[in-house]
Amino acid sequence: MKILFLGDIVGRDARNTVLSKVNYLKHKFKPDIFIVNIENAAGGRGVTPKIAKQFFNSKIDVLTTGNHIWDQKEIIKYIQETNQLIRPANMPEGTPGSGQTEITLDNGNKILVINLMTNLFMSQNDFVFKSMEKILLNIKLGEDYSAIFIDLHGEATSEKTAFANYFDGKVSAIIGTHTHIPTADARVLPNGTAYQTDVGMCGNYDSVIGMKKELAIDRFFSKKSYLTVAEGEITICGVIIEIDDNTGKSLDINPIQIGGVLKPTLIE
Ligand SMILES: [Fe+2]
Ligand SMILES: [Fe+2]
Repeated sequence: MKILFLGDIVGRDARNTVLSKVNYLKHKFKPDIFIVNIENAAGGRGVTPKIAKQFFNSKIDVLTTGNHIWDQKEIIKYIQETNQLIRPANMPEGTPGSGQTEITLDNGNKILVINLMTNLFMSQNDFVFKSMEKILLNIKLGEDYSAIFIDLHGEATSEKTAFANYFDGKVSAIIGTHTHIPTADARVLPNGTAYQTDVGMCGNYDSVIGMKKELAIDRFFSKKSYLTVAEGEITICGVIIEIDDNTGKSLDINPIQIGGVLKPTLIE
């Protein structure tokens, strides 16, 4: 089975570029499930129901998010009605929406998709390691699910790498999001979990993590400035992961970088 995942969509041009390439990406990589992190899709701040629907209508299976999930207030109602839009599972009890969802393929294979947020340099949430252990208490990879995919949303590379090694072999893939910068460490860990510390954003890299350079630089000098999205030529960043249907462990992972100012990956 193959999972295609794209990192944080930042702004309108990234949205439109990704939506215009969905068919191309599906044809090229032949994923069984297509997951996108949507947390910055609405002008860099969260996602609206209208935007989420555009992605679902384009046959994206699951939308994951992160710390920006509540930036657009209409999303509070929508997330409670929409199983396939998820927010970090370790947000405190009582938070609207769910942190996980499952997809059943035509062949009966079930895939569990989980969104989690790390703790270092992030807003306060439950301890991410314990939250994941709790989720895994009653489920087993290869028995209850043919694949378990985690979008691990967080700032610190050390924390994400520790998390991935701690849960190596218990899930199919752990892919980092949030920093908007892709790391060059995509690999399958020794016990079969595919991992990349950060997949990078889908956005304009001629920017400061997707925001206009001048404004973002000014913020380091002055408190008065604000940020807006650097629209323009987009690099689509993601990964394609191949998983053994019987064991749920990963066989391969390849980063995808298409368009814009980043060097393309060979797979393109
Ligand atoms: Fe984030
Ligand atoms: Fe983000």
